[in-house]
Amino acid sequence: MAGLIVKGGQELTGEVVASGAKNAALPLLAATLMLRGDTVLHNVPHLMDVVTMVKMLNSLGVRAELLRGNRVMISNTKKVRHIAPYELVTAMRASFFVAGPLVAYTGFAKVPLPGGCSIGSRPIDIHLSAFEQLGITHRIEHGFVELHAKQLIAGVVKLAFPSVGATENVMMAATLANGTTTIEGAACEPEITDLALLLNRAGANIIGYGTPTITIQGVESLSGTEHSVMPDRIEAGSLLLAGVITGGDVTVLNCVPNDCVSLLDALTQTGIQIETGPQWMRAKHGTSFRGIAIETQPHPGFPTDMQAQLMALLTLASGQSEIKESIFENRFMHANELMRMGAKIRLDNRSAIITGVPHLTGCEVKMTDLRAGAALMLAGLAARGETRIHGLKHLRRGYDDLPGKLRSLGATIIE
Ligand code: EPZ
Repeated sequence: MAGLIVKGGQELTGEVVASGAKNAALPLLAATLMLRGDTVLHNVPHLMDVVTMVKMLNSLGVRAELLRGNRVMISNTKKVRHIAPYELVTAMRASFFVAGPLVAYTGFAKVPLPGGCSIGSRPIDIHLSAFEQLGITHRIEHGFVELHAKQLIAGVVKLAFPSVGATENVMMAATLANGTTTIEGAACEPEITDLALLLNRAGANIIGYGTPTITIQGVESLSGTEHSVMPDRIEAGSLLLAGVITGGDVTVLNCVPNDCVSLLDALTQTGIQIETGPQWMRAKHGTSFRGIAIETQPHPGFPTDMQAQLMALLTLASGQSEIKESIFENRFMHANELMRMGAKIRLDNRSAIITGVPHLTGCEVKMTDLRAGAALMLAGLAARGETRIHGLKHLRRGYDDLPGKLRSLGATIIE
């Protein structure tokens, strides 16, 4: 029977290098639709969502090629097409990041509605409202969003919620608007800073990125450049927890501890010893760790993408924990799978109350989304016996060989 087998009971120890960030690489690749000429992206993680985005760029007339050594070469010299193919957008909702660049660069974009996923309905109303404030009109017909912009109108764009994707989409579009645009209520995630750094290298004029107010001085055009994708803070956090949950001692290299402050603070609150350097972080597990209460929030709050992984850890804490998921409406599906492994969790709408247990027991489980998959692998590493995890497509979409990285730390995982 398919699936991944994780053998529990081994302490994970040693050093592991984090890959480039999936959630930075995807908007960076989309942005190259607006960069005339050649661009090279370094430190690109090798995962299925990146492969899908590369296919998307090629379908839009830009030549994009995955090269050895985690590089992507993009050559944007021909006329860019403006209709994004249905099968690619529905395969990965982050394909909607092409909307802003396309409409700014060509004046028109036709992108399938991205649709929801297991963690929520994932609407795009904030994207569309931001586009409207930039003079981009839209209509939704036959499952497609058609965007038109005779002239991008620079000005103030207010976001009702600090949506990461909407901030990225409208920031990209505003780089070619005629005048100065100020995005108010912008998301502050590090991936937005990474995107702004690429755009500025390409000739854009963006300041305030990483804060709720981003100011963009529009320019005539942007040119190809080189850029290295920032380290993946979520993969780094997941690897760090693998050491903690197995009672081991793991150091994650090539990461940015400053991007992970809320996670490190949460771990410190449980009593786990954390050490950090400029580009590394280490967690040493003592005899026990205590339960805590956290709520997921937009950056710099606790990241929703680490919620499932932390829940896996807290199932083994001494005492009670509470996790409040304030970003997505349905991001507790991993709780049911953890309960099948012996975890004691009570779900109450957006909150999960976890009562620590002495141990988990391996069994068959299924991953419902990318981060739930990582959580179940962590639980399997700590459990007694074997855990067989189904739904590997989520893992392959979003992590650059997570099983291989865990094996390098001593895990026994059979694919
Ligand atoms: C990005 O998704 C990430 N994906 C997500 O990571 C991450 O969980 C999320 O940001 C929050 O940090 C990528 O970067 C590719 P949002 P995004 O717009 O941009 C609601 C992973 O596991 N909303 O900040 O789609 C939305 O429904 C993925 O790697 C609207 O209501 O997230 C959600 O409840 C999962 N209307 C909340 O805002 C909109 O127009 C946050 O969404 C847009 C969003």
